[in-house]
Amino acid sequence: MKQDVLPADGRLGILIPGLGAIASTVIAGVEAVRKGIAHPIGSVTQLSTIRLGKRTENRNPLIKDFVPLAKISDIVFGGWDIYEDNVYESAINAGVLDTRLLDQVKPELEKVKPMAAVFDHDYVRNIDGPNIKKADTKYDLALAVMEDIKKFRKDHNCSRIVIVWCASTEKYIELSDSHKSIELFEIGLKNNDPNIAPSMIYAYAALKMGIPFVNGAPNLTVDIPALIDLAKETKTPIAGKDFKTGQTLMKTILAPGLHARALGVSGWFSTNILGNRDGKVLDDPHNFKTKEVSKLSVLDQIFKAEDNPLLYGNMYHKVRINYYPPRGDSKEGWDNIDIFGWLGYPMQIKIDFLCRDSILAAPLVLDLALFMDLAKRSQMSGIQEWLSFFFKSPETLPGLPPEHDIFKQLMKLQNTLRHIMGEDLITHLGLDYYQEFVDAAL
Ligand SMILES: NC(=O)c1ccc[n+]([C@@H]2O[C@H](COP(=O)([O-])OP(=O)(O)OC[C@H]3O[C@@H](n4cnc5c(N)ncnc54)[C@H](O)[C@@H]3O)[C@@H](O)[C@H]2O)c1
Repeated sequence: MKQDVLPADGRLGILIPGLGAIASTVIAGVEAVRKGIAHPIGSVTQLSTIRLGKRTENRNPLIKDFVPLAKISDIVFGGWDIYEDNVYESAINAGVLDTRLLDQVKPELEKVKPMAAVFDHDYVRNIDGPNIKKADTKYDLALAVMEDIKKFRKDHNCSRIVIVWCASTEKYIELSDSHKSIELFEIGLKNNDPNIAPSMIYAYAALKMGIPFVNGAPNLTVDIPALIDLAKETKTPIAGKDFKTGQTLMKTILAPGLHARALGVSGWFSTNILGNRDGKVLDDPHNFKTKEVSKLSVLDQIFKAEDNPLLYGNMYHKVRINYYPPRGDSKEGWDNIDIFGWLGYPMQIKIDFLCRDSILAAPLVLDLALFMDLAKRSQMSGIQEWLSFFFKSPETLPGLPPEHDIFKQLMKLQNTLRHIMGEDLITHLGLDYYQEFVDAAL
């Protein structure tokens, strides 16, 4: 049965804490697509199709024609940053897109000027900037973010808002008392508890206002009981963590294949060089630790060594990120994978992925914003596990193991869309109509 989905009427505001490389790449890209000078390659909402019904029915619409998503022409961008650069200046500084393209959308990008950020130098040590909010308590900072959102909504005549965190990765922290309930969290905000990170302050402000919040970095942020409960209470969708791009994308494509063919893996060594601002932040061991934890969990879940110790029980997995300024946003990621096959005979796979981090991440921001808006209009709230497809470290309810296999994640995403629209779910069993097909051929 089709769910009640409110229509995507009016403008959708996408607000982004962190107007750096990814944010400027997605904003410039959406403006370029709007003007018809580029294509949204890599965007599942814009370019992927979805099969409906039996294989014989030949119904394969574009996702954007199947589910009622906000239109690209109805999107308006805004955000916060610790620097005062507008998005044109930020894009030039990031050096991801060439100036010929940027100059064609310059007036639109210059209009997006960062609001003052909630920032704590203790959480991100390697950068500092002038555009920072000041207030006596973290609670006051949350109220100030709510005022920013209200003003943006009014000034830009938005009917709905979604927030996508694209700011720097914060230092590694673990769950602490203030994170455990809404009440304790609010007391912590008022007492300036150092365990409450800036990203949590933005998220709290969003959730209090019923605004969907996505976390594109590996920080805890909305992955704490206090904010999961708040999302439920205010009927707001949340999703995270850490956009799945680059090396981890490759891992979750390749590892399910090796596992499916019962091939063993004795080692997986991954190393990267990158030279953008993200790389600089991750050069601090406290911030790298947050990323490392997110990247390491992927293979454990796909291979499940406990279920198959012979194949995966002795796997050595190492991930390194090296800050190397000459490369800028053009990262290079190497993987050496030691595998073994029939009778234990060893083999090796080498991957050298010359990727562009922000080019891979930008479409995810667009897709997540549009799907989260759809979720909100479909009365779906709390953790949106069906969006795991987009994350390195998918957020799940406490106690539920995340699914990392990208093909299972895709099935879940597509079946959720079918469910929302009242279409049959697809199991790929096909037995029900296979016999009909055979009979018809006889
Ligand atoms: N590019 C990828 O492939 C990828 C993949 C997964 C996750 N990420 C994460 O996405 C985030 C953004 O990446 P990027 O390459 O755009 O980085 P970036 O350094 O270019 O941009 C981040 C921006 O956030 C700003 N910032 C930092 N703290 C802030 C705060 N508290 N409030 C507002 N702004 C703040 C910084 O000034 C900077 O301009 C990083 O956390 C990164 O780890 C990136």
